[in-house]
Amino acid sequence: MSRLSIVAYTVGSLFFLVSCSFAIFYGYKVITHHLPEEERVVKKYNYHLVLVPEELDNEYWKLVEEGAKAAAKNYDVLLEYAGPKQSNLDDHLKTIEMSAAAKVDGIMTQGLSDNQFIPLINKVVEKGIPVITVDTDAANSRRQAYIGTDNYYSGFLAGKALVKDTNGKANVAIITGSFTRNHQIQRVQGFKDAVQAEKGIHIIALEESEISRVKAAEKANQIIQEHPEVNAFFGTSALDGIEIAHVVEKYKKQNLIYIIGFDTLPETIKYIRRGTIKATVVQEPYEMGYGAVEMMINIIEGKKVPPIVHTNTRIIRVEDLPVSGMGVK
Ligand code: BGC
Repeated sequence: MSRLSIVAYTVGSLFFLVSCSFAIFYGYKVITHHLPEEERVVKKYNYHLVLVPEELDNEYWKLVEEGAKAAAKNYDVLLEYAGPKQSNLDDHLKTIEMSAAAKVDGIMTQGLSDNQFIPLINKVVEKGIPVITVDTDAANSRRQAYIGTDNYYSGFLAGKALVKDTNGKANVAIITGSFTRNHQIQRVQGFKDAVQAEKGIHIIALEESEISRVKAAEKANQIIQEHPEVNAFFGTSALDGIEIAHVVEKYKKQNLIYIIGFDTLPETIKYIRRGTIKATVVQEPYEMGYGAVEMMINIIEGKKVPPIVHTNTRIIRVEDLPVSGMGVK
């Protein structure tokens, strides 16, 4: 070993030992990301929880985080918000594994795909770390509880709204976040079931946006080019409707094409006010985050919680918006 590497090795080991003693002294479990410096040292929390969403940098998930943070503050919980910056299944699974390895007190995450999430969730729960699924359930896993939208029902509501708004006559294209993730599969299935008996409704195309704005726009563009008969779109994840609206306006077809989207992000509300998006499915991301933290505390403290809590889901149109602002009535 060269002298330089011996020095580097010694300094590294010393640093590691000092960090460990600090962690033990302050009674901490290993803390991973994003904490402001002062919180790392000074405050002692009741529990250390992690929220792992499919995409950190997504406005919808920021609302879930906001709710979870508010509850964490009320109950003196240390909350970490960690996961892939942009949707990525491997990173998502890895973050869950790392959180379990760090022996956090509870993990809140989605149950995105049965074959990858069920074995991992089960492994974590068997280790004694409770798991709550949020927004998307892995109902056949050993997760202690689910809080979020009834995704099948929300898709069903969207289908019924489309039938009503188009008087039962439309050539529909669906852009979905994913062909393989539970929430998206269930929303599409609910929608299909709702329109199935309608002779005048035809599903012409079904494309995947991979939870990406760019892809959603690309797919909307492709559908308009390849299927000029399409006169209605359904976007099944938060950014799909926004990008469909963007593309439809580019083609100046907003008076010819009906759009129903998902969620109530500011851009969606803007397009509803402009008349480009005609309806959207409301979810309650803030309540999901807040409720997940409360439920997790109850589970850790041995209290009974309901295994499934469905947050509110409904359809809104322009007449349901307040006279001004980005909110929803
Ligand atoms: C879904 C989230 C998803 C997001 C993607 C929302 O509608 O509920 O699970 O990550 O869309 O933009």
